[in-house]
Amino acid sequence: MARVLITRRLPGAALDRLGARHHLLIWHGEGPPPPEQLRARAAEAQGLLCTLDDRVDRALLDAAPELRVISNYAVGTDNVDLEACAERGIPVGRTPDVLTDATADLTMALLLSAARRLPEARQAVLYGGWRSWEPAGWLGMELRDAKLLVVGGGRIGTAVAERAHAFGMHVRVAGRGDPLPFERADVVSLHCPLTEETRGLVDSAVLARMQPHALLVNTARGGLVDTEALTDALERGSIGGAALDVTDPEPLPADHPLLRQPGALVVPHIGSATRTARARMTEIAVDNLMAGLARAPLPHAAA
Ligand code: DGY
Repeated sequence: MARVLITRRLPGAALDRLGARHHLLIWHGEGPPPPEQLRARAAEAQGLLCTLDDRVDRALLDAAPELRVISNYAVGTDNVDLEACAERGIPVGRTPDVLTDATADLTMALLLSAARRLPEARQAVLYGGWRSWEPAGWLGMELRDAKLLVVGGGRIGTAVAERAHAFGMHVRVAGRGDPLPFERADVVSLHCPLTEETRGLVDSAVLARMQPHALLVNTARGGLVDTEALTDALERGSIGGAALDVTDPEPLPADHPLLRQPGALVVPHIGSATRTARARMTEIAVDNLMAGLARAPLPHAAA
């Protein structure tokens, strides 16, 4: 029986399966464990099931010498120092595929909301701005024939492209190394992993290349976008709007100037938040963890 540290309560029934075989230490605090708590609790663990809010760095790995496997409850692994794990021979698991549809659906929800200015329209309903039917009010963008640039041609980018085609959009999917014609897009949607290469991909220079009506959608990682540059672009009206499921930092402080921009729609990293996807993520995270503890190859190892 191994000791497994689980850093959040997870939905779905798969933890019962894990608990029947191993000793579970579940963090029940509000939010993720602070780094020093994480290090202290991981000290005697052989397995770690963590989320994207937990930084798995050298300090943590040094504090947890018995670790045999790390199972990250996410498809992205930018919170994990994969090189340091590899040096120590610790395999890292992740949860691909099962959240593709949920995240692609949310991308379309954000795209549609921003294109049709739903946040501003709702504000008007709630706060007395809805006085009559407005022939020239809340005019938005029609998706048919709009040009969508999907940055990242992986599973989620491909699923978004599929959905966008159904709306009649002209879709261009740009994979790694492909040119990124930001100046032609009506909508830019980000779906690439956060790496040293992609950090700050959308900076002031890129934002300056976008059309004044263009929308930026990000359901990948906040670090892909320079938050200050985006805030500035929205403030100056140099792009049409931004619909973000992810931000940098995360969470974004409630008084952050980005949230005051009428063209900004921000939701709290809920791309995979469907009952189906989260239960399946728990299944996969448990599968990865049990395999690692048994010193077998992980079914879904990080590259
Ligand atoms: C992931 O899995 O990487 C998402 O951002 C959260 O589900």
